Amino acid sequence: MRIDIISCVPNLLDSFFAHSILKRAQQGGFVEVVIHDIRDYAVNKHRTIDDYAFGGGAGMVLQVEPIARCIRALTSERSYDEVIYLTPDGEQMQQKMVNQLSLLGNIIMLCGHYKGVDQRVRDMFVTKEVSIGDYVLSGGELAAAVLSDAIIRLLPGVLNDETSALTDSFQDNLLAPPVYTRPADFEGNKVPEILLSGHEAKIEDWRHEQSLLRTKSRRPDLLQ
Ligand code: ADE
Repeated sequence: MRIDIISCVPNLLDSFFAHSILKRAQQGGFVEVVIHDIRDYAVNKHRTIDDYAFGGGAGMVLQVEPIARCIRALTSERSYDEVIYLTPDGEQMQQKMVNQLSLLGNIIMLCGHYKGVDQRVRDMFVTKEVSIGDYVLSGGELAAAVLSDAIIRLLPGVLNDETSALTDSFQDNLLAPPVYTRPADFEGNKVPEILLSGHEAKIEDWRHEQSLLRTKSRRPDLLQ
C-alpha cells in the first residue's frame, strides 16, 4: 500500500511516521508513506496557498490551484483508489471503514487547515470525506495520522502476532477483555486465577465473557 499525505504543515507528520510500528511497517516494505508540502505546488514565488473567503468572514481558505497541482502530479504517476479529505463534516471513522480502506492499494489523504479547502477541491478531486470524531482539530494532520495508523496496523505482516489485530476492541463489536502480565500478585492485587490455569478453552470463555461484560457496561450501543 502507498499513502500520500498532502499538508501545509508536513513537519507535524514527520515524527509520527518515524517511530515504532509505523516505522517498522515502512522499513518492512508493507507500506510507503509520502508526505507532500502544499507550498511546493504554490503558483507564485511567495509560495502562497491560502486567501480570504469570497463573501467575507473570518479565516483563510486553502486555494484550489496548489492542491490541484499536487493531486494531479500524483495521479499522473499512478492511479489512486481514494482521495480522502479529513474534515469534521465527513463520514465518521469506524473500524469497519478502516478495514475496508486497508484493502486498497494507493490512497491520497488531504489535510485541511484554517477554514478548510476551497469547495472546488472537494467537488473535483475528493472521493471520500472522513471525520475522526465530533470535535474540531486545528488541522487535518492529526486526523490523517490517526486514520493511517489504524489502516497500517491491519496490513498483513505489520503486527508481529498475526492474530492480534483481529482481537482488537471493535473488530467483532465487542470491547477487548482486560489483560495482565507479571507479577501475578501486585501488593495483594492478584491476576484472575483462570489466566494462570493453562486451560486454553476456559481462558477463551473467560475472555469472551469479560468482553461482553465490558461492552454491556461501557458501550451497550455496540450490542444493539
Ligand atoms: N479536521 C479538523 N477536525 C477534524 C476531525 N474531527 N476529523 C477529521 N479532520 C478534521
